[in-house]
Amino acid sequence: MRDAAPTTIYLKDYTPFGYLVNSVHLTFDLADHATRVTSRIAFRPNPDATERTFFLHGEDLALISASINGAEVTPDVTDKGLTVDVPDEPFIWEAEVEIDPGNNTALEGLYMSNGMYCTQCEAEGFRKITYYPDRPDVMSTFTVRINGDLPVLLSNGNPSGKGEGWAEWTDPWPKPAYLFALVAGDLIAHPGQFTTKSGRDVELNLWVRPGDEGKCAFGMEALKKSMKWDEDVYGREYDLDVFNIVAVDDFNMGAMENKGLNIFNSSAVLASPETSTDANFERIEAIIAHEYFHNWTGNRITCRDWFQLCLKEGLTVFRDAQFTSDMRSAPVKRIHDAIDLRARQFPEDNGPLSHPVRPESFQEINNFYTATVYEKGAEVIGMLKRLVGDDAYAKALDLYFERHDGQACTIEDWIKVFEDTTGRDLTQFQRWYSQSGTPRVTVSENWADGIYTLTLNQRTEPTPGQNEKQPQVIPVAVGLLGANGDEVRQTEVLELTEAEQSFQFTGLAAKPTPSILRDFSAPVILEHDVSNAERAFLLAHDTDPFNRWQAGRSLAQDTLLRMILDDAAPDADYLDGLLAVLRDVDLDPAYRALMLGLPTQSELAASLFERGHTPDPMMIWTAIETLRQATAQHVQDLLPRLHSEALVDGPYAPDAAQSGKRALGSAALALTTRLDGGAMAAEAYGNADNMTLQLTALSCLLRARKGEAELAAFYRQWQHDRLVMDKWFGLQVAMAGPEATPGVAQSLTQHADFNWKNPNRFRAVVGALAMNHAGFHQPDGAGYALLADWLIRLDPVNPQTTARMCSAFQTWKRYDADRQELMRAQLSRVAETPNLSRDTSEMVSRILGA
Ligand code: BES
Ligand code: ZN
Repeated sequence: MRDAAPTTIYLKDYTPFGYLVNSVHLTFDLADHATRVTSRIAFRPNPDATERTFFLHGEDLALISASINGAEVTPDVTDKGLTVDVPDEPFIWEAEVEIDPGNNTALEGLYMSNGMYCTQCEAEGFRKITYYPDRPDVMSTFTVRINGDLPVLLSNGNPSGKGEGWAEWTDPWPKPAYLFALVAGDLIAHPGQFTTKSGRDVELNLWVRPGDEGKCAFGMEALKKSMKWDEDVYGREYDLDVFNIVAVDDFNMGAMENKGLNIFNSSAVLASPETSTDANFERIEAIIAHEYFHNWTGNRITCRDWFQLCLKEGLTVFRDAQFTSDMRSAPVKRIHDAIDLRARQFPEDNGPLSHPVRPESFQEINNFYTATVYEKGAEVIGMLKRLVGDDAYAKALDLYFERHDGQACTIEDWIKVFEDTTGRDLTQFQRWYSQSGTPRVTVSENWADGIYTLTLNQRTEPTPGQNEKQPQVIPVAVGLLGANGDEVRQTEVLELTEAEQSFQFTGLAAKPTPSILRDFSAPVILEHDVSNAERAFLLAHDTDPFNRWQAGRSLAQDTLLRMILDDAAPDADYLDGLLAVLRDVDLDPAYRALMLGLPTQSELAASLFERGHTPDPMMIWTAIETLRQATAQHVQDLLPRLHSEALVDGPYAPDAAQSGKRALGSAALALTTRLDGGAMAAEAYGNADNMTLQLTALSCLLRARKGEAELAAFYRQWQHDRLVMDKWFGLQVAMAGPEATPGVAQSLTQHADFNWKNPNRFRAVVGALAMNHAGFHQPDGAGYALLADWLIRLDPVNPQTTARMCSAFQTWKRYDADRQELMRAQLSRVAETPNLSRDTSEMVSRILGA
């Protein structure tokens, strides 16, 4: 039940807890609707604290008994927790509570999924398991005994005893409660083994439900690669005798880094060539790495409070990106990350939900696991590394691990490590953590008397709560090209620290062509008025793979904007440039596939809005369709060659080389479908022997408004497989024509297999509706109303997943008055729903600007 007035928590109000925890002993007596949790916790007064109120968090708990030093006590209990008088010296707190995992649909705390018990405690779920100071700066060792008649009983740490119907686990590493985990079920292990560089033998297991055994091999290999990589690159070894991963079907997020017992959404770990796409494999490899890397960046060194979330998430995303670059292709990964940042973080940072990488206040912390904290947080670390250099970065990280192991830290601690390593004053750099909004960097050039001058300007638009912005430190990587395409100046990092700054280059024979923001060296919007001829030149010659791709992207964006605004025809510079790139067999197929990508509809809407126009989703959709059709015709003669280049010999492997070929082949098939009406796609569907090809072919057919038979066949073939059925649901919504989208989504929600309480299935349909730009923004508001209906329905069941999906409305002020009014009305309808969760009510009120 929601408080009458929602409370806001502020960073500036942080105070340490009055007590420290020496040890935690928990006993679980598992029962679907009446699990008993007995806790025995040794506290001592915290010498560093001034405030000594003994408050333990606790929600949805039935307190059975409580005692201090063995004497029964009667605490003051509210729906948030309890307070009680305690001695001014070390004492033992004991409590017994009863909880109902069988009715826990929010998937936070201890809950059940297909008969399996499992937990999700980050950020504040442990308080739904027992009374505890549920805050990340309270760290303790844990011993856990599980009593239950299920064959597999798991918790954190090392196994320390087991018998018929029970198991005990001991975690020697002090940790905050959010890293606690318990799993109990009828599970099968896919085993593995790893020996650390200092010779510790680690037993690895990937635990799955019967039937999923065939989908474990890839995840296990990814885990071993991650363990090795963290030793090789960061010198970080694993620190327990066992590492368990469990796959669970009902999970709000992708995965969770609980100490020694990672819990994964089954979609983020289970894979086989027949059921998973290349993109699934790549994501799984990255998520396994991410959660594993948290063992050092998150677990051994954790966050003082949740405002410091980027300390672990930004850093761990940065580390998993480095891992993916090393395992696959660095330029391809960098381009994917820029696409992703622009698609998810820029809209957040330039709308009503904008917040700093380190927020200063929140109502519900679950709402701050955002693209800004994660992806911009990772970009900030990338900038820091670029500014101090690779060697200093490595030294700073060594110092971070040495100085802060076992601690709960802040961003100030993190920055200090870099200052101490380099002697550099990073005060201004810290603005990246405190200032919200995407900086815009504008470029002007001058060539006079043999001196080439680049003048860079920065400005950041006002964001909620921040009107005045200070200049930030922006590393702008720049290279210069000569007229024949040679690089006359290699990449150099310009440090833009002022609102406006000029940089001079001498010794040049002629005015060069600049390549600016190479490798996407900062998460900014670059505004540089250049001719399409210059873009085409960069597309042909830039030695920086990111900027070469960016040149093509800018050409595509420019032609699309002119098609929308001036009814222009597709631009020849773009089409010819693309053709030249596609012809270049020396270029990685994955890279050429990326070159075929276009800005998303929503990105185009943002660009139109920024230029003072009101985006019309249908015109955007039409422009993209027209450009695609023109592209297909323009590269027509090349398509057979692209198809043959995309052929893969030998058995399926989800590696970078094969996936790149398939990506190029898929892009070529999509273009071919525009010319042959789907003949080749239908054949490809029939021949597909892996999910990547099968799904590509099916999506081409659906986009061509064909594929009814294939869709039905797909259903019959994969009906038994939950993860593949999510694709079946999602693809239909993603590929539906704009007018049809709300109806398709609506009728899929009536399907017998639409289990809306499962977050993956809910996202497959309702999430896909929100992602289908022209379909969601149908002028009659049907898309908005359908989304709002489902948000209202899901909220009492699963607030976290509901709240995350509210962000579909965050761009509402970009659109015309009619659409704005339709969206505002739906947001208000959600906002006015009785007993709305704190999660969802915070989101809708921020989006509405209340
Ligand atoms: N610690 C998070 C999981 C989490 C998020 C728990 C929000 C509770 C609330 C985990 O490390 C994570 O970041 N997972 C990501 C995937 C990752 C590859 C970025 C996720 O679940 O999406
Ligand atoms: Zn994480």
